[in-house]
Amino acid sequence: MTDQPQDLSENQLRKRVEALSLRQKVRLLTGEDFWSVAAEPLAGLRRLVFSDGPAGVRGEAWDERNPSANVPSPTALAATWDESRIERLGGLLAAEARRKGVDVLLAPTINLHRTPYGGRHFECFSEDPVLTGRIGAAYVRGLQSAGVGATVKHFVANDSETERFTVDVQVAERVLRELYLAPFEAIVREARAWVVMAAYNAVNGTTMTEHPLLREVLKDEWGFDGLVVSDWYAGRSLAAASDGLLDLVMPGPSGPWGDALVAAVAAGHLPEHAVDDKVLRLLRLAGRVGALDGARPATPSWTTEQSRAELRETAAAGFVLARNEPAEAGEARLLPLSPGRLRRVAVVGPNAAVARTLGGGSATVFPPFTVSPLDGLRAALGPDVCVDHARGGRSSRRVPAARPEMLYGPNGHGTGVELCFFDTEGTLLGSETRESATFTWLGGTAGATIPIEQVAAFELRTRVRADSAGTYLIGAAGVGRITMTVGGSVRIDTHLGLTADADPVERMMRPPQETVPVPLDAGEQVGIMLRYEPPSFAGEGFTDAAILSFQLLVGADGDDDAELAEAVALAGEADVAVVVVGTTDEVESEGFDRASLSLPVRQDELVRRVRAANPRTVVAVNAGAPVLLPWADEVPAVLLTWFPGQEFGNALADVLLGISEPGGRLPVTWPQAERGLPGTTPVGGKLDYNEGLFIGYRRYERDGEEPLYRFGHGLGYTTWECHSVELSPGDGDDGAVIVTVRLHNTGTRRGREVVQVFLSRPDSAIERVPRWLAGFGSAEAEPDQQVEVRVALPRRAFEHWDAAGRRWAVEAGEFQVAVQTSSGSALLGLDTGLLRD
Ligand code: BGC
Repeated sequence: MTDQPQDLSENQLRKRVEALSLRQKVRLLTGEDFWSVAAEPLAGLRRLVFSDGPAGVRGEAWDERNPSANVPSPTALAATWDESRIERLGGLLAAEARRKGVDVLLAPTINLHRTPYGGRHFECFSEDPVLTGRIGAAYVRGLQSAGVGATVKHFVANDSETERFTVDVQVAERVLRELYLAPFEAIVREARAWVVMAAYNAVNGTTMTEHPLLREVLKDEWGFDGLVVSDWYAGRSLAAASDGLLDLVMPGPSGPWGDALVAAVAAGHLPEHAVDDKVLRLLRLAGRVGALDGARPATPSWTTEQSRAELRETAAAGFVLARNEPAEAGEARLLPLSPGRLRRVAVVGPNAAVARTLGGGSATVFPPFTVSPLDGLRAALGPDVCVDHARGGRSSRRVPAARPEMLYGPNGHGTGVELCFFDTEGTLLGSETRESATFTWLGGTAGATIPIEQVAAFELRTRVRADSAGTYLIGAAGVGRITMTVGGSVRIDTHLGLTADADPVERMMRPPQETVPVPLDAGEQVGIMLRYEPPSFAGEGFTDAAILSFQLLVGADGDDDAELAEAVALAGEADVAVVVVGTTDEVESEGFDRASLSLPVRQDELVRRVRAANPRTVVAVNAGAPVLLPWADEVPAVLLTWFPGQEFGNALADVLLGISEPGGRLPVTWPQAERGLPGTTPVGGKLDYNEGLFIGYRRYERDGEEPLYRFGHGLGYTTWECHSVELSPGDGDDGAVIVTVRLHNTGTRRGREVVQVFLSRPDSAIERVPRWLAGFGSAEAEPDQQVEVRVALPRRAFEHWDAAGRRWAVEAGEFQVAVQTSSGSALLGLDTGLLRD
């Protein structure tokens, strides 16, 4: 049950602002620490806590001991095209937030898939602004109706990572309005998001924390009454404090405001009412999330079972079945598999035994457990089916962090690692035991109480146990000085660095590595001592806070040829081969863009060779964003699973065995090749969005180019016929035009069909994309059942931004309405006369 917090009246809030001195007010406008705003008893405000999102709620610590439900990443959520499901998931996230003491989630990320090279593509919903806006609004409603704040981010045009702190995006006003601002507008207006995050980048010459778009468009035009928070360290100036711009600088405690802001107000350079408005917005947010004494805190709750079931179903609902053909002529389509006919299944590929459930960067959470494809299939098929596994090569050339199950206590008992913290004098500050090999601190404390800034050196002791005989690569990753002894001998003593312009998140997600080969027998243990000395914090440049990260690495020094051969041999002996290929959080991450869309290392070769050994090959693609699939037409079945969250393997088994239908439709065009895709590298600090309105499907359709899989594509397990399509005027509130589609489930199983409605405007007097998504809806039906799907097209779908007139306008004349389902498409003409104001 949810106990809704109640908005305090505006008058009450204003009185609380008035009760504070200028200094007390200004103190609230910069974070108290990395994740929170300080309590202010005079205003009845308790400490207010923010945390990342969007694939879960990490909480204040970056630590495996503080786990969080790991929901599917946003591309997977958008692929469901299912707002009620996403709204429910928002409720689950709200419960997680409350459990972890979090008031405001720093999610959803609603930047667009301008190009699949974008490092955070997996963290954004779609290339389409309408789909992004609707799925994003559902996410926000789910969170906020349970009393937890949502932060729509990053406002605006933060669609790639290269030079992200400074890049100046050059984008035409109409393009900004119709594409990049559109999801923000939809979510602010319809879902009334409580927080918007101002991005790092500049747009057309002005950095976003100082940009007039905040005042003129977000606050004045759209009526946003919430809080504008800076992206972390994006609040860099006093200018950002001007009336109507940035409200809160994060993180703190230092920052550009503080005394300088007090002085600016005292000197009359900034009116005090500008500060009051920021504090009012902060208190309004606090009231909404239950952080003011007069407001009631929300108490949503989900049981573990409910949450696991929801995550499992949602993952399956986002899987896109891109291809499903018979393995041999005359047979039925390969999927779903019939479990009764299976005796031996090969589950191969680098992402088969290690579940890749999320991408990298601030979206990282620590799931309590993950279910790999191998585990999921083994559990579902039971003991009578032999499920074989071989990795078949790697999905990354980097040496992985040690798996926790290989780590044993340094003194011969227990598991994990012992971690000691030392200050600059070499004094031991404290120690702790960890069940991890990846360590990150973003401000905060090491152990329970040691401020991370005081730690000058870390020493890690553990014993690595080999699970099989072979040579292992053992070492460390991190920026700074690394010393490592293996079995008592010093094997590494080096300094590792990144280029001066490297992103701090790159330091966490893809730090430089150093390893040495260590031959071990099966079951043999070797003692490790790793000393890590980070560079001094003053060297960080953009922040004075400690952002520290290092890893202990242990990976088999594998022979790819032998691994490939082993996987191919297993596949050849099986009734069916499931190949799980994909990327990792070191490939798809915040902090850097992708340089190539190919599957890393030799995964394409693996797929082709497995297919040659066994025609009954299903390929599951475990990547948060498109990767090139040059063999796509050579295999009978391709299932795109995204980064599907902690229940990956269970959901995969459900879909492959036909317990669940793969419910997804593509939220992004899946390219055939890299040619023609927009790049992410700024020139002279500027990134020109010179493709204008033509991103994603809009470009392919203009150029008459066929991608591998179209936007909106996705198959199910049943078949449909579209019986009729009708247009009628809407009642204004609901939509300008209603499209009613009558569908018939002509197959043999229950299924869900998504109806996508596109508009086009032949003979337009203005530049147009060939067609654009105007609305969508879905329905479920039993075999032979007929259902009606009603899709409301809002007036905005017919409007374009008239840059000269600085307004939205509808071009008179006839639009065309195309209704697309998995069974085909229908085209109808529609005169603007049908539109009602
Ligand atoms: C990211 C934000 C995130 C923030 C806090 C930034 O680097 O861009 O999305 O919310 O860090 O972790």
